Amino acid sequence: MSDVKTIRPIPEFFGKWEVPADKSVVQRALMLASVAEGESFIRARDLGEDCLTTKNCMRALGVDIRRANDGIFVVGTKKFADGKTLDCGNSATCMRLLTGLLAGRGTHAVLTGDNSLCARPMRRVIEPLKSLGAEISSKDGCAPLTVLPRVLQGGEVPLNISSAQVKSAVLMAGLFAKGKTCVVETVPTRDHTERLISYMGGRLSKNGNAICVEQSSLFSREIDVAGDISSAAYLLALGVLKGSATVKEVGVNPGRIGFLSVLERMGVKVERRNERTLSGEPRADIFIRQAPLRAVNIGGEEVPSLIDELPLIAILSAFADGDSVLTGASELRVKECDRIRATCALIRALGGRAEEYADGWKIFGGSLVGGKVKADVICGDHRMALTAALGLLASEQGGELQGGEIASVSFPNFFKKLQTMGVCI
Ligand code: S3P
Repeated sequence: MSDVKTIRPIPEFFGKWEVPADKSVVQRALMLASVAEGESFIRARDLGEDCLTTKNCMRALGVDIRRANDGIFVVGTKKFADGKTLDCGNSATCMRLLTGLLAGRGTHAVLTGDNSLCARPMRRVIEPLKSLGAEISSKDGCAPLTVLPRVLQGGEVPLNISSAQVKSAVLMAGLFAKGKTCVVETVPTRDHTERLISYMGGRLSKNGNAICVEQSSLFSREIDVAGDISSAAYLLALGVLKGSATVKEVGVNPGRIGFLSVLERMGVKVERRNERTLSGEPRADIFIRQAPLRAVNIGGEEVPSLIDELPLIAILSAFADGDSVLTGASELRVKECDRIRATCALIRALGGRAEEYADGWKIFGGSLVGGKVKADVICGDHRMALTAALGLLASEQGGELQGGEIASVSFPNFFKKLQTMGVCI
């Protein structure tokens, strides 16, 4: 039975927070450090459940992994244990990237997950990996997936959808395939895998839209992971609506900062301070101040750079002057839940107006009153839980949130912090 939280409207917010380490980077670092020579240290704070899931999968494969206060030690191994069943929990990044890595290494394994993950499309990784010689069986294109040991041959793999997970699965496999493996993207997506492979000494090159890897040994490194911009976004949104916000040490990979561009288009000044690159990834402290919001239209090639922030942008849009339209985002329908349906239901549950499209929505600007958000609106999705909490905090009257505990998938201490601030019981 999911718990019910009472969330009060927050009168003002001038937060200075640090956020959990970027889960996209931590999960990739765990996988790549597991196949590198020697011991790596992944420095990462506040690991959410998705990261712990990936850590457990690598451990089940025989990798020597130890947790420390401020991160994880990983000793790379030459061969994974065969015949294991790996529980990828709620994490599609874990399942899709690991399928690529296991196929590349010729490891026999079964990958499974929770109900949400087992309903998500996996043909998008199975087919490209098959084109390199992998043998992977599925249940009608969904998990459980069984990877059989095969030797892969490199080749050119055009990507039919803009997905960093699919691109990364192919690159992970390509590290062990014979010859060169090239992925061709039509729209650029987050390039954490590419940066990490290069940082760890792998042979990776780029030629226009093609990203190529060759069989290579990776070397252990210290990997310092910045804060997750997808988590920082909730605090920045609160600052935009209620005062100001500073979030320190946030990853600002060019493939992830669409949310910041949208804030600027809505009329917010976004300041980046202390910009630098660590472990191959750019990071900065981000500062924003409250501003009246203009409606915003989003679509096309910018969608992958803010895909996980779109429900939150819908909340901001509900407080904007004018109506905001999102198109070209049908991928939202196959996330942890159908986020187009869920976002429109959430806006309505909070007293706003939303029109649902096949590939997006229209959100009518104005304000949100608040209300009761039931578990079926959140539908077991961590980002919907965080987005609902934000909507309630920013609303006129606040309300109740059922099923919010799922937020720990990506943001473990979020509700604890709200409790300390006295706005969540
Ligand atoms: C992720 C890529 C995105 C994103 C997901 C994490 C990643 O998914 O929505 O939360 O770590 O590569 P897609 O690649 O399917 O768009």
